[in-house]
Amino acid sequence: MTQEIRIAEAKNHVNEEVKIGAWLTDKRSSGKIAFLQLRDGSAFFQGVVLKNQVSEEVFQTAKELRQETSMYITGEIHEDSRSHFGYEIEVHNIEVVGTSEDYPITPKEHGIEFLLDHRHLWLRSKRQFAIQQIRNEMARATYEFFNKEGFIKMDPPILTGSAPEGTTELFETDYFDQKAYLSQSGQLYAEAGAMAYGKVFTFGPVFRAEKSKTRRHLTEFWMIEPEMAFTHQEESLKVQENYIAFLVQSVLDNCAYDLKILDRDPEILKRYTKTPFPRIRYDKAIEMLQGAGYDVKWGDDLGSPEETYLSEQFEQPVFVLNYPKAIKPFYMLPEEGRDDTYVCADLLAPEGYGEIIGGSEREVDYDKLKAAIEAKGLDLDEYEWYLDLRKYGSVPHAGFGLGFERAITWICHLDHLREAIPFPRMITRLKP
Ligand code: 4AD
Ligand code: MG
Repeated sequence: MTQEIRIAEAKNHVNEEVKIGAWLTDKRSSGKIAFLQLRDGSAFFQGVVLKNQVSEEVFQTAKELRQETSMYITGEIHEDSRSHFGYEIEVHNIEVVGTSEDYPITPKEHGIEFLLDHRHLWLRSKRQFAIQQIRNEMARATYEFFNKEGFIKMDPPILTGSAPEGTTELFETDYFDQKAYLSQSGQLYAEAGAMAYGKVFTFGPVFRAEKSKTRRHLTEFWMIEPEMAFTHQEESLKVQENYIAFLVQSVLDNCAYDLKILDRDPEILKRYTKTPFPRIRYDKAIEMLQGAGYDVKWGDDLGSPEETYLSEQFEQPVFVLNYPKAIKPFYMLPEEGRDDTYVCADLLAPEGYGEIIGGSEREVDYDKLKAAIEAKGLDLDEYEWYLDLRKYGSVPHAGFGLGFERAITWICHLDHLREAIPFPRMITRLKP
């Protein structure tokens, strides 16, 4: 029996006869030879069909194959130094499994809306394959990192009554006879988790009714939110830079093939595996922006153009520390000796990518937290359970949230978040 393998395993089967279930992505043929571009979900490589080595029928089948036809190929694996995969298969037999007519995504260029309308098929392309491999590696590395650092993963609810990041971007839904919201952050629940288990992280979808139609905003995205008890901001910043360096190193170690497909230079990524990352205060960031001619004043939130400028001034990701209270959420710890700033930080990714992490030390005092919730006009009833965390053994604690698609977009050097998630959700896109 011929052994059935996946393309990625080809290197272990050189000069062996194998069987592979694959799809055709492209084809070239002449009178004597046909080149089949094949993919099976594990890698892409070439099949060579030589007319004088196969039956008339097999050669005819090869010549008539259409894009995205599925088939079993049997043949012998050979080294192929001309391709960056390094191996090819000399095809001996083809058994068609599923035919394909008029596949809509052809090797020619398509517009972005057309591609998004066909996202269920677009995922098959080489570039999308590479992005999803890297996404998968970053998810794997996230679990590895936090588990080895003594965190446990905790799953917060998706249906909630609370609005940690402000009420303007909530998706509201009917929940029997009350209102519920799709969670915009698992943080408040992660804080309960930290008081129960010391160090926790969440990793799941969050939802924001973002009206902004930018390359950095999705309405549904994935966030990783670690939260640590008995921890101040300084230690949290160290966890953040170590985590980012670990993610980049994991992609360098395990995704060389995918980075090559994306034409992403590993030498640039190597810069981000070195810690510590530079830090500047928000105050200084405003000065830098003003010096460069940006129309900003102290107290303004930083928009995409401002973050882009700042992140271009550094070779590594940069922390911007201690933002004004007015532009950040209620749960943050005020900075000692200042009445207008919080102990918080955003991490801006280099190469102009901007914010990938937001985090802070948390308010620990019951009365101050209660006053902060009221000052934001939030309904105290919904936060009673959260205030309990300050009533029973409150401790200094800190945490942060990494936007998963933002991090993928940066590491893969994409120009829009929509390619970083299999089925992106944006204001004008709910299908497929
Ligand atoms: O800065 P944000 O709003 O912070 C929080 O949600 C905190 N509760 C995190 C915490 O301290 N536990 O969001 C965190 C990150 C941002 O830095 C950004 O990377 C990403 O989530 N993000 C988005 N990603 C895609 N689309 C959007 N609309 C996003 N909004 C935020
Ligand atoms: Mg933020």
